[in-house]
Amino acid sequence: MKEDEGWGTFLTGKAIPFRRNEPLSKYTTFKVGGPASYLVEPRTTDELASVVKKCRAEGERLYVLGGGSNLIVRDEGVNGIVIRTSSLKSFAEDGKGGFTVGCGYQLSQIVHESLDKGFSGLEALTGIPGSVGGAVRMNAGGKYGEIGGMVRSVEVIGDDGAPRILEAKELRFGYRSSNLKERVISSVTLRLGRESLEAARESYRKIMEEKRGAQPFGTSNAGCTFKNPPGGKAGRLIDEAGLKGAKIGRARVSELHANFLINEGGCSADDLLKLITQIQERVAEKSGVSLELEVVVW
Ligand code: EPU
Repeated sequence: MKEDEGWGTFLTGKAIPFRRNEPLSKYTTFKVGGPASYLVEPRTTDELASVVKKCRAEGERLYVLGGGSNLIVRDEGVNGIVIRTSSLKSFAEDGKGGFTVGCGYQLSQIVHESLDKGFSGLEALTGIPGSVGGAVRMNAGGKYGEIGGMVRSVEVIGDDGAPRILEAKELRFGYRSSNLKERVISSVTLRLGRESLEAARESYRKIMEEKRGAQPFGTSNAGCTFKNPPGGKAGRLIDEAGLKGAKIGRARVSELHANFLINEGGCSADDLLKLITQIQERVAEKSGVSLELEVVVW
């Protein structure tokens, strides 16, 4: 870090919660990852903005940690500022058939609550972990839909610390991608429906049941490791390469869904990264396909 001590004084002065040299393994669903120089937990958009502004002004490395559910943090950790968004959980109906939700809201929670509040649409994202901000940044989704199509606008924090609204027409969403990758998202406004609530609730139940049967729920994993290649399925390719159950150290390929890796307990980021390389090599040999990571590596 460039101005290591200055950050402690700055954050203490502004009363923004932070921890020094905090192990990130506590905050990732894989339960791996070394320490962050500073883990900062802003509670308001203003606090978030002041941290972003200082990072940008000083050219400090800035990482945004949402639900940590699509992330491998290396064992050596990260040298820089990690903003954890979990305290940014505002919620307000927009009066236009949708609502604005803070980036740190858990996606699974808002999927559930939106049905309770009489909104339909988000049930397509049932069973997807992570935060709303993270979900929008990577256009999280599955075969029932993606979040990108439900976004009316996004509030981002500019390099000068000023919040700015990006409307749907300025946003680009692709398969597990968006043009928000370099942005710090503070909140998201979703456009939903008010109709077919009973059908939406039924669909929620069905998707949950289907996922529980097909994915290793209750284990330490980060969902699908690789993107599906054009015209193919990463899970099937890994399975056909005979890799179900393959292990390096305490990292294992799930027997239930081969695109999921599991921390069996005490696994390192290095174990996971070695297993990833082995999978990529074996699948390339067997089928000629080069698998691209869906999980993010810090
Ligand atoms: N398959 C196998 N072996 C396996 C796993 C899958 O042969 O070990 C086959 C299945 O039989 C099926 C096909 O591969 O014919 C596709 O599998 P699945 O229906 O499970 O869907 P997926 O393409 O593997 C995608 C998303 C998931 C999402 C599901 C359900 C990606 C990379 N994955 O999985 O998202 O939950 O659809 O909607 O797009 C994630 O992004 O982290 C994630 C888990």
